[in-house]
Amino acid sequence: MLHDIIVDTQLPTEMIAMIGSECTVHIWPADAADPLFDTATGVLTYGHPRVDGALMDRMPNLKVISNFGVGVDHIDLAAAQARGIPVGNTPHILDGATADMTFALLLAAARNVVIGERFARSAEFTHYDPKLLIGSEVHDATIGIIGMGNIGRQVARRARGFDMTVLYHNRTRNLQAEAELGATYATLPELLQRADYVTLNVPLTAETRGMIGRAQLQQMQPTAWLINAARGGVINHAALVEALEQGWIAGAALDVTEPEPLPRDHPLLHMDNAIIAPHLGSATRQTRRAMAQLTVDNLKAGLAGSPLPSRIA
Ligand code: DGY
Repeated sequence: MLHDIIVDTQLPTEMIAMIGSECTVHIWPADAADPLFDTATGVLTYGHPRVDGALMDRMPNLKVISNFGVGVDHIDLAAAQARGIPVGNTPHILDGATADMTFALLLAAARNVVIGERFARSAEFTHYDPKLLIGSEVHDATIGIIGMGNIGRQVARRARGFDMTVLYHNRTRNLQAEAELGATYATLPELLQRADYVTLNVPLTAETRGMIGRAQLQQMQPTAWLINAARGGVINHAALVEALEQGWIAGAALDVTEPEPLPRDHPLLHMDNAIIAPHLGSATRQTRRAMAQLTVDNLKAGLAGSPLPSRIA
């Protein structure tokens, strides 16, 4: 049987090949009245459009929602569960790449890599100047990891390699991370007050939405950097703009924002103490290939009515 699969953005050819000939892949119809919604048996979410109960109800034949990524904040899991539609995602395989990206941002922030790169290309760079762009040390500094899940643990391992003091905050204490990684549990205010680099490695949930706002930014040191490789919604962006303008913190390095992308006139895009990347956390050849495979495996299993290799709801 041929399946109609709806995808929210153009897939790489490699992934179309993985999906195979039993599925016809369609780009998400712009019009909710499109008859494709009546026949679609699978949804593959790639660019994170909202998948809610109303949309599920518009697809009476929907058998599976397969998410390309671990973060499922754009999918109403309870609505899927209530309708018996399995939802797949891609945990674990992107932990290393996302932790690498967290560290890439941290190092770039500490050592002025982005602003230095811009300067080195400009006509203003005329001679070596030892007073130029003095950054902060990473080794021997204190990192505060918010969210000691799979990605947070990988960040802690990298921090240990840099001889950093590792603090973490999590909903529940992670005794294994404490024993294996020498990480020390801290309350959120304590972590914010002590860390030179605060990294966000939590999923976006009702609990974490806006968890870094004015009060939290004011608790950080004026020399500290905030690194976000999780989801933009974890930070209140208006508060962050204020913090960067007022010098409450040294800067912010963000792989994710809300909305994404930010409007081109957003103040964060015009601040020297902000580094913005276009959601590259899992963007390595190896990780994206593995994510593509697991996404397709979840999709095909759902279409066949079999258990999903990686089911989140
Ligand atoms: C994830 O896996 O959630 C990444 O952010 C890619 O969306």
